[in-house]
Amino acid sequence: MPTAKLILDDTTVELPVIVGTEGERAIDIRKLRTQTGYITYDPGLANTGSCQSSITFIDGEAGVLRYRGYAIEDLVEHSSFVEVCYLLIYGELPTRAQLEQFQDRLTHHSLLHEDMKKFFEGYPPSAHPMSVLSAMVASLSTYYPDSTDPEITELNMIRLLAKLKTIAAFSYKKSIGQPYIYPRNDLSYTADFLHMMFAVPSEPYEVPPLFEKVLDVLLILHADHEQNCSTSTVRMVGSSGADLFASISAGISALSGPLHGGANQAVIQMLEAIRKDGGNYQKYIEKAKDPNDPFRLMGFGHRVYKNFDPRARLIKKLVDQVFNEMGINDPLLEIAQKLEEAALKDEYFIERKLYPNIDFYSGILYRAMGIPTNMYTVLFAMGRLPGWIAQWKEMREDPHTRIYRPRQIYQGATHRPYVPLDQRG
Ligand code: CMC
Repeated sequence: MPTAKLILDDTTVELPVIVGTEGERAIDIRKLRTQTGYITYDPGLANTGSCQSSITFIDGEAGVLRYRGYAIEDLVEHSSFVEVCYLLIYGELPTRAQLEQFQDRLTHHSLLHEDMKKFFEGYPPSAHPMSVLSAMVASLSTYYPDSTDPEITELNMIRLLAKLKTIAAFSYKKSIGQPYIYPRNDLSYTADFLHMMFAVPSEPYEVPPLFEKVLDVLLILHADHEQNCSTSTVRMVGSSGADLFASISAGISALSGPLHGGANQAVIQMLEAIRKDGGNYQKYIEKAKDPNDPFRLMGFGHRVYKNFDPRARLIKKLVDQVFNEMGINDPLLEIAQKLEEAALKDEYFIERKLYPNIDFYSGILYRAMGIPTNMYTVLFAMGRLPGWIAQWKEMREDPHTRIYRPRQIYQGATHRPYVPLDQRG
């Protein structure tokens, strides 16, 4: 087994090296503190492997993303979101019979308990659907408690996958004051979601096949992304023994931030602001470069991808295809393209290896499909759900899992005598 040597003061410590199946190497520092008294310091955990995982592989330099060994490009071309859910959770592509059974289970668990409808009534119409989603997912554990029985745990995974789209669509209907539309068992996962979003009781609604396909591809592209902020949150919460719904509800909250999943909404808001400002995109490039301005180019940059984000490339192709097929123009698309072109030529972005990420063009597609801006991050959550479930399951089944409990370097006041209230200032 390879080892690494660390020289600390006048001692040399030998640390084991772990090698992954793709040749990634990690120094195993588990015994470092007990052997030396030292800990490691890594804000943002940018160089910390928090687990060993067999779910998703990313090569950030080469722009590679694979789920369970399958290239994202192949999955987008040949697979469906439901098949990818199965692949992520169970580790293998399903046989036809397995897929049919899985699809059938997802269909038959899509209803919400009728009492849960009352929960939606409690939120103000202005509530952000991501907040409602997170709260409703946490509420599921009141109906479906955790169990040590693996069959019940697995059933809860199916329930969550099946019900998330219903919760998402109900939260939208509630926000616009329309009656809830119940799931339909004859529709695909994606078509059913679109139907619950856009159908109204007073007239028939046909899900446009193009939108069904596009949404399916978008969900596949979001399905997992190894140890990102929300997934690490799911694992961290779950590491205490918290149940699936509590862990994933926390993941949804983590995803909502503008530096993570919330970026897809922020991109469209940024493009709208540029349009209202006369389309002066160069001004926003300059703002993004200004160290004294907190503004960032939303949808740009990534912790792991340093050449291109393969998901962004696939989405950009999809944008061209959809806009051609629908024969539409969107002024925001033009601004996005100009912004991208200018940023990719700019030394600031080149030096820092900042490229469009998955969120840069996804909102443009959601807009074309008539999805309101505040639902974009909810769609990210729907896509990421199978990844979170697979990661939570892997964490629970891994004998190496320990409760997440990082250390810190304390920089506060050292011990000082207590000052009674009447002697202070
Ligand atoms: N616009 C302008 N400058 C940027 C940007 C940006 N979008 N992103 C990074 N930088 C600069 C940053 O200021 C820093 O510059 P300097 O070295 O001079 O201080 C340098 O690039 C490195 O940035 P960082 O913040 O240390 O990088 P990070 O790995 O911690 O953050 C990120 C990654 C994605 C949070 C960041 O690039 C960002 O804030 N992007 C905009 C938000 C966004 O699009 N998020 C979606 C990410 S992809 C979907 C997902 O998985 O969540």
